[in-house]
Amino acid sequence: MNAVISRFQPFELSNDVDYQSWRAWKLAGYPRRAEQLLVPVRDPQRLSAAEHAAILGHCRKANMAIYQVTGARAAGKPAIRGLGRQFGLESLDMNLRADEDSITTITVMPESTGTHYIPYTNKALNWHTDGYYNPPQEQVRAIVMHCAAEADRGGDNLFLDPEIAYILLRDENPGFIRALMQPDVMTIPANVEQGREIRAAQSGPVFSLEKSSHALHMRYTARSRSIVWKGDAIARNAVEFLRELLDGDSPWLIRHRLQAGQGIICNNVLHKREAFADHGARKRVLYRARYHERIHATVAGADCYGERICSG
Ligand SMILES: [Fe+2]
Repeated sequence: MNAVISRFQPFELSNDVDYQSWRAWKLAGYPRRAEQLLVPVRDPQRLSAAEHAAILGHCRKANMAIYQVTGARAAGKPAIRGLGRQFGLESLDMNLRADEDSITTITVMPESTGTHYIPYTNKALNWHTDGYYNPPQEQVRAIVMHCAAEADRGGDNLFLDPEIAYILLRDENPGFIRALMQPDVMTIPANVEQGREIRAAQSGPVFSLEKSSHALHMRYTARSRSIVWKGDAIARNAVEFLRELLDGDSPWLIRHRLQAGQGIICNNVLHKREAFADHGARKRVLYRARYHERIHATVAGADCYGERICSG
């Protein structure tokens, strides 16, 4: 008999054994508060081994970590880029509003600049994953978002790990997962500005698995306009379940207000932003880098099981 390596596949609906063992590991000691995800770092461009291990540990467990720069030097865009590189994050996503270096500065823009996108206002931003309108080959799998200056009031973020959303949906009804994995379950219509199409319509699944690693990826927006959900009953019920989860007071939602010098590094977890107010000319400023890669070594099972060897 030859020994063959079979990859751990907790997200395959047909594999309940892997799912149940991964689920037990995932939920045991899962962080419930943002403080449990916080890692002080002296210099984000040159993490110590302990700082790196702490961030990676949180990302493996919860797909996100919050870091706090304790060194004297304020972290700018090069520091954000440098931080990402230490976790295998290289390929920056180009988006319509990114600055020339592909890292976006998120702050309130004067209306005279003509932008009407909610991220550049002080309004609340509803639940989403970043780049849900991107084509399949340009999915945003990781984000680093750094707060250079906080709002005077408000601007809290709420986060939900997509793997927790997956568990809650699958436990409720495995058919929900099947429905949300359909390749045409969610369609974002084309983006047309002043009669010109600047982004084509984009259909895709909510949950998908990366081909090589079987990592879970989620694509979602809570917006109710300019979105077309597939009309089958189970898909509609799954979307409604997800909406109620996100709009409720589930203990799995993690709230945090990023302070100046803090940031989040994550595998594009679900997030929302509450409305905020700036104090005069002192504006809330965030730098956001979006990547096509996932944080290195954060595939489900990488630390709890790895590849299993079985006899064939
Ligand atoms: Fe976002």
